[in-house]
Amino acid sequence: MPVTRRAFLETSALALTGLAASAKAHAAPVPSNHSAPAPPTIVASRNGIRGVAKAYEMMTKDQADPLDAVIAGVNIQELDPNDQSVGYGGRPNADGVVTLDASVMHGPTRRAGSVAALEDIASASLVAKAIMDYTDHIMLVGKGAKRFALDMGFKEQDLLSEESRQDWLRWRSQLSPDDDWLDHEDDIVIERPGGTINMCGVDANGDIGSVTTTSGLSWKIPGRVGDSPIIGTGQYCDNKVGAAGSTGRGEANIKVCGAFLTVEFMRQGKSPQEACLATLERSVAMTEDRLLDGKGRPMFSLNFYAVAKDGRFGGATMYQYPDEYLEVLPGRGNYAVANADGARHEPLQYVYDQTQLPGALKDRMMERVERIR
Ligand code: GLY
Repeated sequence: MPVTRRAFLETSALALTGLAASAKAHAAPVPSNHSAPAPPTIVASRNGIRGVAKAYEMMTKDQADPLDAVIAGVNIQELDPNDQSVGYGGRPNADGVVTLDASVMHGPTRRAGSVAALEDIASASLVAKAIMDYTDHIMLVGKGAKRFALDMGFKEQDLLSEESRQDWLRWRSQLSPDDDWLDHEDDIVIERPGGTINMCGVDANGDIGSVTTTSGLSWKIPGRVGDSPIIGTGQYCDNKVGAAGSTGRGEANIKVCGAFLTVEFMRQGKSPQEACLATLERSVAMTEDRLLDGKGRPMFSLNFYAVAKDGRFGGATMYQYPDEYLEVLPGRGNYAVANADGARHEPLQYVYDQTQLPGALKDRMMERVERIR
């Protein structure tokens, strides 16, 4: 059944005011063509812990469509200024402008939507879904994407929170001792954090939805687009197999079409866990020399999360975090899951254990540990 524009705007307005819990499933309902019931399961990046609980409840109590459920899950982070990796309060590009990337896929109807370099609209995931629902296109970017969102009734707002603005000013002042910017009044060293949220869910009918949304790499060159809005890279969903998504260094993921590859590995018989690890190994094999240490290990991190149609799930990252790091930043190295056993963090599997962490990466982590201590 087609969705009316009015119904869409009502749903979006609720999400934009943080009331996405009441959102109605509005993807065109398609009878499930699967007989085997699946245990409803949601997986997400670590920052999705509140979102997986919400998405699970929506799917199981309200019979929400799986894509609507996972979008409501990521909306929590998109609207939360304390998550500086996504939506409102996300860290800006080199010019101090917050630009958002997001993509969605709806398994039962085999549709996708995507938005990149979106400014001034917090819920990029809902804009991606609106592109899927109301246009014959899959991806809109930049000014055209913003105009489309405003036409659809999304609310315009300044996405740069005071905290992210101060971080950007610090970063700029630390760029060079020879420029004309004096150091910021505090001397907190600003790292170059990434971030992002991916969430994938399968409902009791075996129907699947997936979403990834992000403000992308902090201080990026204006115009840079990462992996999140690229279908098959930031996330991918095939209703016959499962769904997968990614966070971490987008440039490394783009070259291996990582979400698509992970789903393809599952189609070939790998478990979600094995599939995530196999994709990371492919990413290492495709890494250019300048990003490898002397032993051929990548100087970056990348994470994959996956759920199979039958409710099995997994997640993997490139490196095991050092124990000293986990002492001050507990929870790193985990991803979020919700199923009949509740919402919780599960440990990510890894390609390299902590003894194999390249020295420069370990030094960076230890500097952070020292600052926090
Ligand atoms: N994975 C998020 C980004 O690279 O933009």
